[in-house]
Amino acid sequence: MSTVPQPLASVLPCPLIDRAGPFDPYRVRADFPVLKQSVCGKPLVYLDNAATAQKPRVVIDTLQRYYACENANIHRGVHHLSQIATDAYEGARTRVRHFLNAAQDREIIFVRGTTEGINLVAQTWGRQQVGEGDEILISAMEHHSNIVPWQILCEEKGAKLCVIPINDRGELMLDEYEKRLNGRTRLVSVAHVSNALGTLNPVREIVDLAHRWGVPVLVDGAQAVPHLKVDVRELDCDFYIFSGHKLYGPTGIGVLYGKADLLASMPPYHGGGNMIKSVTFEKTTYADLPNKFEAGTPPIAGGIGLGAAINYLNQVGLDRAAVYEEDLLSCATEALSRIPGLSIIGTAPRKVSVLSFVIEDIHPHDIGTVLDQEGVAVRAGHHCAQPVMQHFGVPATTRAATAFYNTPEDLDALVRGLHKAIEVFR
Ligand code: ALA
Repeated sequence: MSTVPQPLASVLPCPLIDRAGPFDPYRVRADFPVLKQSVCGKPLVYLDNAATAQKPRVVIDTLQRYYACENANIHRGVHHLSQIATDAYEGARTRVRHFLNAAQDREIIFVRGTTEGINLVAQTWGRQQVGEGDEILISAMEHHSNIVPWQILCEEKGAKLCVIPINDRGELMLDEYEKRLNGRTRLVSVAHVSNALGTLNPVREIVDLAHRWGVPVLVDGAQAVPHLKVDVRELDCDFYIFSGHKLYGPTGIGVLYGKADLLASMPPYHGGGNMIKSVTFEKTTYADLPNKFEAGTPPIAGGIGLGAAINYLNQVGLDRAAVYEEDLLSCATEALSRIPGLSIIGTAPRKVSVLSFVIEDIHPHDIGTVLDQEGVAVRAGHHCAQPVMQHFGVPATTRAATAFYNTPEDLDALVRGLHKAIEVFR
């Protein structure tokens, strides 16, 4: 396969591909079967990666092989297939551990996704540790999944949900954060990267400030792990959560990392099989980590598929891909800034992947529809971050979110599509 980019009749302002260095987006792109198709007679340009990423062939093949040749329930089976499936699932846990640089496999809990991971912490650690008058501190740029579970907990316990404000670039206001930390704060829960703005938050600084008060920190890493190398020990966060499907893996699988002591001190979430040591009608004792939090038949195929995705990412080299993605984002930002009437929502200097924008007098959904007709997939709406929309005084934005398989040609198609939308609606 040729890895030489086609010359662009480019509307882009930057010779992006020259700076891609050793990373070749054209070669990795070939690993993603879905990207080879046309939509509305145009080559598919997939820029909805913040919602879900596409899957490389190796992940699809791994799932197919699991169901065709290895399917069995895990952990308690004595037969051949059960052993193979158990080894593959537990092997995936070890891969996740290395991926996050966690200290031990038992700190990796498989869940359905980020939403379930946050709810798990709220309903176990939160119900145990949070009482009347206590405070949970989140930020104004959170996804609903990092707001609502805490509201439910606060309502139940008579606790207070406090919010770190953001500025008009969409950055977290660290001085305001410091002011809100106090003796009543029980937990800080923040996004690593905002799904609606792309802002990359200074997690290590956030953690250090919280730890001065003895307050643990939960990081919603859903939008960070596909784009950055994450090291939970370097961040020193207490919980780190992400979804498999945004990391080029299957849906229905996610990861909750927690420091072992914390997880061990927490009550279980769901009761059922697999999470027990012994059961009598009088008393049940619980399994050790990680099984204590994995009741019932787990998402076996999902875990194995996520392991394959991580293996793939290790081969691609997330660090090299991140440098390319950074260039891609600055190029796209520059190109979009030149479009008359277009305003980018979220202009923090440290951003990852996401370009949210509005165009004067054109509804984001109309922009999305015109782009779709051009084969360009973006998202339009509030992105499950209504408080962010309220902060910027818009009902919705159009959001283009890149991945390492996006090329300058994809950005070209986006820019051309936006000019078309302006032509159609103005
Ligand atoms: N949380 C996903 C998004 O931002 C669905 O689109």
